[in-house]
Order: sequence, then C-alpha cells, then structure tokens
Amino acid sequence: MLHLISLQDWPAELIAEVLALADAVKQRPQRYARSIAGRTLLMIFEKPSLRTRISFETGATQMGGHAIYYDMGTSPLGTGKENVADTARVISRYVDLVMARLCDHAQLVELARYATVPVINALTNYSHPTQVLADLMTIREKKGRLAGLQLAYLGDGNNNVTHSLLLGCAKMGINIRVGCPAGRAYSPRPEVVRAAAAFARQSGAQVLITHRAAEAARDADVVYTDSWMSYHIAPAKLRERVRRFQPYQVNAALMKLAAPDALFMNCLPALRGYEQTAEVLDSPQSVVFDEAENRLHVHKAIMLRLLKENVRG
Ligand code: CP
Ligand code: NVA
Repeated sequence: MLHLISLQDWPAELIAEVLALADAVKQRPQRYARSIAGRTLLMIFEKPSLRTRISFETGATQMGGHAIYYDMGTSPLGTGKENVADTARVISRYVDLVMARLCDHAQLVELARYATVPVINALTNYSHPTQVLADLMTIREKKGRLAGLQLAYLGDGNNNVTHSLLLGCAKMGINIRVGCPAGRAYSPRPEVVRAAAAFARQSGAQVLITHRAAEAARDADVVYTDSWMSYHIAPAKLRERVRRFQPYQVNAALMKLAAPDALFMNCLPALRGYEQTAEVLDSPQSVVFDEAENRLHVHKAIMLRLLKENVRG
C-alpha cells in the first residue's frame, strides 16, 4: 500500500511523477473531472487549516469524488474512547482514501499501519510533505528546474515544513541552507538532517545548517520562511520566540543578499512583521499565493497517484 507519510519514503522518481501529474492537472483540469467519481476522501483534523482543508475538499469535488471533513475533537478517537488501530480499521471499511492532520507523528504512522486504504499526512508536528510537493511544483514552474538551485530557509528550524523541505530539496537536487538559532529547540532534528545529507549525496546537492542568517541567504534562488508560532506552540512562548527568531526575519536587507531574481516563499499562514516584513510578503518577488494555489493541483495529483489502480478513465 502506497501512503504519503514522509518524503523520506518517496523515491525521487515518484516525486517527479507526481509533480508532472500536478502540472498536467493544472493545465487541463477538465480531463480529470470524473477521475475519482464515486470515491470518498476522509479528512481528519486535529488542528486548524485553511489551505489544506479547502484545497483537498475542492480537489476531490472537482474530480467527481466526495470529501468528508471530520473534526478529531468530535470523534471517539479524539475523546479517548477509541484507539488509533480500531479507528483505522473502521474507516478503511467506508472510504477510499484518508488524509489526517494530527499533532503526534507516531499516531499518523500507526493510522497508516492499520489502514487498508492509502493515508496522506496533512501535517504533523514533525513533517508536512503535501506542502513541500506544492513548493517543489512552484519552484520548478518559476525557475524552470529544481536541481542545482539554492534554497535558503530562515527561522524556526525545528519545524515540520523545514523537515520536509530538507528531505524534498535533498531528493530533488536542490541545495538547501537552513538559517536558525542554535539549540535543539530551534534546529532541525538531527535524524532529519542526517537523512537529508544522505539523499543529497545521491542527488549531488548540499545541505547546510547555519546559525548565521546571512550565510543561509547569500545568493539564494529561493528564500523561504514559516511561522514562528506553529499551531502546536503554546501562546505563552511568543515573547521568547520573537526574541530568538528576530535575527532570522526575512526583510528587505536579507532579500538583498539573495540572487536579484530570488523568489520569496512562505507556506502560509503568515504574519507581517514577524517571520517576514510586509514589504517582502507583498513584494513582486513573493510567490506565496501561487504556492497556495498549487496545493490544489498537487493534492489532486497525490489523490490520483494513491488511487491509481482504482482510477477510472
Ligand atoms: N500551508 C498550510 O498547510 O496551510 P493551512 O494550515 O491553512 O492548511
Ligand atoms: N509550521 C506551521 C505550518 C503551517 C501550515 C505549523 O505547524 O503551524
């Protein structure tokens, strides 16, 4: 059973195949209008969402399928009345595909272990692979290639998007530099950096973790940042985190260090004046809304690929 739990498990060829399918879906959406007719996608959410929820639900509808939004807080699983394994076994009897946005990555892995239908990671505290597939699609659309580019990630290194970017870039031959504060709380998890470095050796890319923002940003083709206050971070940590992350804010001075035609990306939601200034987010270099749009096309491609054996037409 092919799931999408982490980009670590997806070979570069499979990533390339899904990106090509996403391009095709974007160019001719009508061709896919009945591709998942009669199929149901279950979407389990333990955290908020704008993009992931709406793009998956719309994507399923546009391909003739049906999506169910299921708030974990109102489920027996979320209220401690039922375990993950039994939940997985039951939903597999009803639906064709499951996507879940959960806090605990281990819980998602367990859900996939017991499910007999494909499971998609719609974000955990640890990783966010669907986002990074849309990011790769966007970068290739704008730059015409992936391999050999330089991507700089600034800000929270101990972050789901950062982890998935490290893996996705390393697999596809993009050199990635992460500029983040020192310390375990703010740096990417060592096992992810090790895995990314191993994939980078195969693709010819380079992976660098630095605590100097300028070193990360210099000559970058893509400058990427994400929220300093991810959904699972307690609001009480705001002041301390703003203090720690401020040197990594993406502002006009930092963008000047990057290539003159560098793209600015943020998976969104974004807060102007925090991880980037309004000037950068709203600049012509910013592609954040194209990036958000590509979630729709990539999610359609992911659903098509995971349901491949069963797709009609
Ligand atoms: N980028 C992203 O996953 O956004 P949402 O949290 O709105 O789904
Ligand atoms: N790192 C962010 C991504 C949001 C899409 C979070 O987990 O909230």
